[in-house]
Amino acid sequence: MKVLIVGSGGREHAIAWSVAKSPKVDKIYCAPGNAGISEYAECVPIGAMEFEKLADFAEEKAVDLTVIGMDDPLVGGVVDVFESRGLKVFGPRKNAAILEGSKAFSKDLMKKYHIPTAAYENFNDAEKALEYLREQAKFPIVLKADGLALGKGVLICNDLREAEEGVKEIMEDKKFGSAGNTMVIEEFMTGREVSVLSFVDGRTIRTMTSAQDHKRALDGDQGLNTGGMGTFSPSPFYTEEIDAFCQKYIYQPTVDAMAAEGRPFTGIIFFGLMLTADGPKVLEYNARFGDPEAQVVLPRMKTDIVEVMEACIEGRLDRMELEFEDNAAVCVVLASEGYPVKYEKGIPIYGFENFKGKDGYYCFHAGTKFQDGQIVTNGGRVLGITAKGKDLKEARKNAYEATEWIQFSNKYMRHDIGKAIDEA
Ligand code: AMP
Ligand code: GLY
Repeated sequence: MKVLIVGSGGREHAIAWSVAKSPKVDKIYCAPGNAGISEYAECVPIGAMEFEKLADFAEEKAVDLTVIGMDDPLVGGVVDVFESRGLKVFGPRKNAAILEGSKAFSKDLMKKYHIPTAAYENFNDAEKALEYLREQAKFPIVLKADGLALGKGVLICNDLREAEEGVKEIMEDKKFGSAGNTMVIEEFMTGREVSVLSFVDGRTIRTMTSAQDHKRALDGDQGLNTGGMGTFSPSPFYTEEIDAFCQKYIYQPTVDAMAAEGRPFTGIIFFGLMLTADGPKVLEYNARFGDPEAQVVLPRMKTDIVEVMEACIEGRLDRMELEFEDNAAVCVVLASEGYPVKYEKGIPIYGFENFKGKDGYYCFHAGTKFQDGQIVTNGGRVLGITAKGKDLKEARKNAYEATEWIQFSNKYMRHDIGKAIDEA
């Protein structure tokens, strides 16, 4: 088979690595890819939002399966373009990717189908939102821009003044662009966060092993929200009992709700959950693998990813089970100092050779490129260093050891990825 992967981050590197393991696959392309992905795939300079060019390429090279890694093209309808041209593609159509593309849509869906989530109201008028905040809100409260905002469109406001400022940023100053035309105001929840990713074929859902992300830039969950500074898998807080509850009241009901709405979902649903005192509740849905969740979940997956994706597309996931290794993995993101605000790029990276021949250690590239034959930094998140271990403690020790194998002058990382493990 020939497989085309669309995207250029650490998630796509993990997907490419996983696809490359499949005995069914002889050739991988990645658009646009990055320096690390080029080890497994031929990278082609087509942007993820150039749908017709991507489809032309898939047609020209007789690609058998295209895998969309990123949210923007999915929400923009890349799958519909591929399908209309008779090309096989893994991911939700536009009318299903809205599960991630519009928080107002997903909140209304959960309300209609009684899927546990935080209480909320949707607003498309700043005055009405302010009136609600002044008259009815309990603080802290959460403001969310409706659309895609690189994971940054969520503001937690401690008092009315902060909330008024938040409404201004989202709805009036359009800090997150048109994502802020509509806004969700949501009850603040407390608890542990868990990410559960799943494969879905429109009707059947098969969940993967759990993970936990660390979204803030600084140790101790301080600083600004980022795309994710590190992950561990599995989450020791995600017990069998919690899983059974979520399968029954969250996962299958979400898939059924989408089908009932005439928006059957095929692809990955990523459930962002909060384990509250009142039970698990949905924080958000994503319509793709998490980044850096994929970097800890996929290295532990025993099942052939290509077979699962084909089963999803062909609607026969009910005849498959997923298998994961009985171990653990931790991923520590090496970022550019200053991320997520301002940082330098183009800095040479050294030490990749240290990963050669080391089983259970992975150096996933997130923001890198070749420059004059040398691999240099090309983004805020630069690399995801993943290591496996027999348990979470060993995996964490291994991952932090491996972070020392890589050098670049403005290397930055959190030192407390997986600290929660000690409290389990
Ligand atoms: P989201 O993009 O919706 O996952 O939100 C980003 C982050 O904001 C989440 O990972 C949570 O840490 C936090 N968050 C979102 N919604 C809530 C909520 N209702 N209560 C508390 N924290 C929240
Ligand atoms: N790591 C969170 C996300 O991919 O949205």
